[in-house]
Amino acid sequence: MTGDYHLDRVVREARLRASADRRYQHELRRHARASRHRQGSGGARPALASDTGTGPHSNPTTLEPSMFTALAEDFTLACGQVLRNRFVKAAMSEQLADRRGQATPVLEDLYRRWARGGAALLITGNAMVDGTQLSEPYNLVAERASSLEGLSALAAAAHDGEARIWLQLNHPGRQSSRVVSSRPVAPSAVPMGMLPAMFAQPRVLDESQIRDIIHRFARSARLAADAGFDGVQVHAAHGYLLNQFLSPFTNRRTDRWGGSLSNRSRLLLEVIEAIQQIAPAGFVVGVKLNSADFQRGGFSEEESMTVVSYLEAAGIDLLEVSGGTYEAPAMLSTKPASTREREAYFFDYVSAVRSTTRLPVMLTGGLRTPAAMEAVVTSGTVDLVGLARPLTLVPDLPRRVLSGEAQIAVPTPPVPKGTLQLLSETPWYVHQMRRLGQGREPQPVGRLRALAQDARRNLGWRLTRTAFRRGRTRTGLENSLSVPRQGRPRSSSPPEHSRSIDS
Ligand SMILES: Cc1cc2nc3c(=O)[nH]c(=O)nc-3n(C[C@H](O)[C@H](O)[C@H](O)COP(=O)(O)O)c2cc1C
Repeated sequence: MTGDYHLDRVVREARLRASADRRYQHELRRHARASRHRQGSGGARPALASDTGTGPHSNPTTLEPSMFTALAEDFTLACGQVLRNRFVKAAMSEQLADRRGQATPVLEDLYRRWARGGAALLITGNAMVDGTQLSEPYNLVAERASSLEGLSALAAAAHDGEARIWLQLNHPGRQSSRVVSSRPVAPSAVPMGMLPAMFAQPRVLDESQIRDIIHRFARSARLAADAGFDGVQVHAAHGYLLNQFLSPFTNRRTDRWGGSLSNRSRLLLEVIEAIQQIAPAGFVVGVKLNSADFQRGGFSEEESMTVVSYLEAAGIDLLEVSGGTYEAPAMLSTKPASTREREAYFFDYVSAVRSTTRLPVMLTGGLRTPAAMEAVVTSGTVDLVGLARPLTLVPDLPRRVLSGEAQIAVPTPPVPKGTLQLLSETPWYVHQMRRLGQGREPQPVGRLRALAQDARRNLGWRLTRTAFRRGRTRTGLENSLSVPRQGRPRSSSPPEHSRSIDS
């Protein structure tokens, strides 16, 4: 699909300007070296190209350190919430909650670090609306009033750094591995087509279970609002439950939740409506949607565009565009840069959807260079730039770009082939997030080592979770699983209304 704006052209133009700026920066450095030398020797100031009419001030197409003007602009959402610039930390499942799904101090510190890194908005990794249905071990769970203390601390950590924070809400459906779920649920009994030993056969949801899930999304959103979050993002992408309902490949139902696109969209739209009913004024409801599933018989671009029109009519505040599922992980395209056509994987779709909707659009996936980030915003196609993996390696990238650093190179870790790539991509970045939360720097650990660490943690999670379940009534066991926030006062009891939604 070709949009009105071609990213390649837009980026090429921005790169030309950036390369002129590089020459200028090079000259500045040369000038600084020369002036240091001059101070030592008392010589004359060397001429800069700008002195001779060839520097950036003489050329209207060059960019100066303040070249990222579009990224620096604030952005106001329809509900009135203001984002101070165009950078968003996209959702990444941090897997840093405790075994009961409560936020930990390491998770808070990670968000404090990202907030200070300059992004206007931090969207958390997917928080589960049902503690028995996780996408991975150590997921955050937003289910009970007992989560309020941790969630409040997490929101406060982001606000300390003057960032907005939204909680991403998710239900994994059939994309829940045997490590965390032996009884996943789904719209239809379609088993996972990849690594079948890893995933159990899903159970088909009945009407009352579907209603319960809608209620759970609303309850989790209410918890987020009570905890001080600025909004929620409903995860309807990447092959999880809401995406499974949208897709004709995974949704084979013949009742009012399946069949036509409007029936397949019903769950997503009812979830949004239920959240809007409990949302306080100014509380944002965003949606992450696939541009396509990239699977034969799956959710297509045409269908996605129609769903965007439903979402606009439903009055959501922000659309984030991504794509792919576990079985076709387009969102984590790991092709080497040399063979990847362009930085922003879903730019063409966004270009096309832009002409059909007035919804603000955030684009996530593949953006790596400041020039391309600026270009997608300048083109008018994208309102907000979503960054995930780059912020695990350069957590202060937004602040550095906005202060004029054009040459930030986001390291691209070597990508293994086949199953190792599929299995290790997430653990490798989870490892980096853990290090950041512990106050350490990212580390280029080997893929196998990241996988081994992941397996060890998963095993630990399973063993303790089983012990926890069996020994619920044992004195002291629950406490031993809940590490208190050292030196941070425990909050007082949760507000009355949040207790009532816990029932
Ligand atoms: C470790 C890891 C965890 C992720 N977890 C989530 C998640 O919880 N929710 C979500 O919507 N996307 C998740 N993603 C996908 C990212 O939000 C993003 O769409 C993807 O990484 C592409 O963006 P990037 O090229 O900037 O990394 C995850 C990605 C990674 C690497």
